Amino acid sequence: MNDKVLWVTGASSGIGAAVANKFASKGWKVAVSARRVELLDELAKHENIFSYPLDVTDAIKLKEVFNKIVNDLGKVDMCILSSGTYERKSEKEIDVNNIRNVIEVNFLGVINSVGAVESYFKNKNSGHIAIVSSPVGYRGLPKSSGYTPSKAALNNFTQGIYFDFIKYNVRVSLICPGFIKTALTDKNEFKMPFLKSPEYAANKIYDGLINKKTFEIIFPIQIAVIYKIFQILPNRIYNYLISKFVNR
Ligand SMILES: NC(=O)c1ccc[n+]([C@@H]2O[C@H](COP(=O)([O-])OP(=O)(O)OC[C@H]3O[C@@H](n4cnc5c(N)ncnc54)[C@H](OP(=O)(O)O)[C@@H]3O)[C@@H](O)[C@H]2O)c1
Repeated sequence: MNDKVLWVTGASSGIGAAVANKFASKGWKVAVSARRVELLDELAKHENIFSYPLDVTDAIKLKEVFNKIVNDLGKVDMCILSSGTYERKSEKEIDVNNIRNVIEVNFLGVINSVGAVESYFKNKNSGHIAIVSSPVGYRGLPKSSGYTPSKAALNNFTQGIYFDFIKYNVRVSLICPGFIKTALTDKNEFKMPFLKSPEYAANKIYDGLINKKTFEIIFPIQIAVIYKIFQILPNRIYNYLISKFVNR
């Protein structure tokens, strides 16, 4: 019997929805949040899933909703923050309004969510914050003027708060999926290498958070190897490779 409680943001579709189902199937009580109420209600047909709609750009509402979840379900042990947005066609040229929106959701929206759980987890001296970011944030990429920088900021933020929370016995994990087939990537017009299903991602995330307990969960292995090499390549070689194989 499992008495654990999870809160998932960005849970109405894609990775977040698959993660919610995975944890619910393992007996966790799962509070699911996003804006599209009807999709959350659909998920909440599972006896262990409960719908809590919100917009992550509204910090005040986020805090209220989080308090309601704690109130309704008795506690929260872990949160998986998976909200995010991306539209490749809006990123080919610099569009400040698009970039502002992407940063507002992908970076500040996650910070709002962490802000909502901070004092609760620190006061109870336990908890786990898992942030879904992306390996694309490791280094700059072409035709990604908003998404890649938002994930770079998120990777850096997550690494930074690891040190701030661990003193309170609160774990922080960084989740970096490769290409996963969701509404977000369905808009890509290029062939995505090593494309995986949301259920594959959910299994990797569950295994990484519950069994492996490493700070960073990056998958699949091919993407992990490629991006880890990208991280350490000198600029001259990185720029050559990206110009030749990606920026075409
Ligand atoms: N798919 C990939 O290949 C991939 C790879 C690396 C990282 N990621 C990251 O994984 C996360 C999930 O993406 P996904 O691929 O599963 O795409 P998705 O199916 O489009 O999921 C995005 C989720 O974010 C929610 N969301 C967007 N704006 C929101 C807002 N303002 N307030 C609350 N929720 C909001 C959406 O719900 P509503 O529209 O209902 O609000 C949806 O549930 C994102 O952070 C993405 O950057 C994805």
